[in-house]
Amino acid sequence: MRTQVGIIGAGPAGLMLAHLLQRAGIESVVLEKHTRDYIERRVRAGVLEQSTVDLLNDAGLGERMRREGMVHHGIQLRFDGAGHRIDFSELTGGRGITVYGQQEVVKDLVRARLDAGGAIHFSVDEVGLQGLDTQRPRISYMLHGEAHELECDFVAGCDGFHGVSRQAIPADKLTTFERTYPFAWLGILAQAAPAHDELIYAYGDRGFALFSMRSPQVTRLYLQVAPEERLDDWSDDRVWQELHARLETHDGWRVNEGSVLEKSVTGMRSSVVEPMQHGRLFLAGDAAHIVPPTGAKGMNLAMNDVLVLARGLIEHFESGSDAALQRYSQTCLRRVWRAEHFSWWMTSMLHRFPADDSFQQRLQRSQLEYVVRSRAASASLAENYVGLPASWGTEP
Ligand code: FAD
Ligand code: DHB
Repeated sequence: MRTQVGIIGAGPAGLMLAHLLQRAGIESVVLEKHTRDYIERRVRAGVLEQSTVDLLNDAGLGERMRREGMVHHGIQLRFDGAGHRIDFSELTGGRGITVYGQQEVVKDLVRARLDAGGAIHFSVDEVGLQGLDTQRPRISYMLHGEAHELECDFVAGCDGFHGVSRQAIPADKLTTFERTYPFAWLGILAQAAPAHDELIYAYGDRGFALFSMRSPQVTRLYLQVAPEERLDDWSDDRVWQELHARLETHDGWRVNEGSVLEKSVTGMRSSVVEPMQHGRLFLAGDAAHIVPPTGAKGMNLAMNDVLVLARGLIEHFESGSDAALQRYSQTCLRRVWRAEHFSWWMTSMLHRFPADDSFQQRLQRSQLEYVVRSRAASASLAENYVGLPASWGTEP
């Protein structure tokens, strides 16, 4: 079997790349290790930057997002029992974010792919990459117990942080930059009307908490917990008690409780590999870099990478020039490192670090006060949160 671009992974990165290529008349095959049902149910990100919204709209994928997504013009930072609004519209010249679940983006992308007659093979196993240094790289895999080999012009490694693509690159060709954090997030999805109309990031002695939402009937909530935390130790009652304690305000505001639809724990890490390319393999999204979720940047970065990659591949197939492909890594990394810094900064400001002494906590408190009281500091948070202009990630 042969295709122009072999894409490993049907997350937001792999599916969007397939869609952008298909619109330009370039053939690709997507290989995904899980089932369609699994990837469409996996609850993860929820915040889309304006540039991601624009990309979905420009690619003809925005119809349901425009109907069901919730446009927000600010967030609240909460500490010492009081909330402080950061007004994105006012601080960024009218920019905002859209709250629309990642699994909804994935559903829209899968549907568009299948409607266009494009190939996605679900439940593939034992994916391996060969000949990356040659003009004809190959992907081997098992499907329904049979061995297959796909010969490609290019391979896109869009298989997330735990995928095989990054590992197929010889270790001496990559440099890894990394931070781990001494905590994780316990997330729940609850059948309960959101008790507030914008996201709330709360700092306090008991640790960080985040209030978010998915629809007028569904609330999404997160708690900072220990990295080795066992879900079994967190009954629904305990989760609600802790959320009430961390999110409470002096005026008696409370989250609305409801049945818990999903509960999971996610570790926190910052990581980047450079370069994001080896021979004819290009890494995109979480396969190349991850951020702690506090800045809500991961899916947005994944989308930017594949926009840059699609442009490079289209240039190659249309004009034979590899100039844009050669700049791929350098072009993406500028936006990646800005998001790495912002996510690390938000994480450091808002979480309780077990090793911190009272001096460090006073610094955190002072930073929070500065961010909510100084227009310059609020504007810096707002500009990064809504996402820097597209030119930060698409021009070298
Ligand atoms: P993934 O979504 O991980 O997709 C990779 C795909 O590859 C998966 O479907 C996987 O099954 C498949 N795969 C893996 N290995 C193989 C293999 N060997 N063979 C074939 N297929 C394989 N980001 C934001 O922008 N905003 C947010 O608000 C936000 N909040 C988050 C909250 C949480 C709790 C978490 C966990 C993440 C959050 N993120 C957020 C990050 C975001 O979810 C990721 O950055 C995003 O999923 C990256 O997309 P991707 O396509 O690169 O990778
Ligand atoms: C959500 C996740 C995030 O990581 C974040 O910073 C904001 C919102 C969410 O899942 O809604």
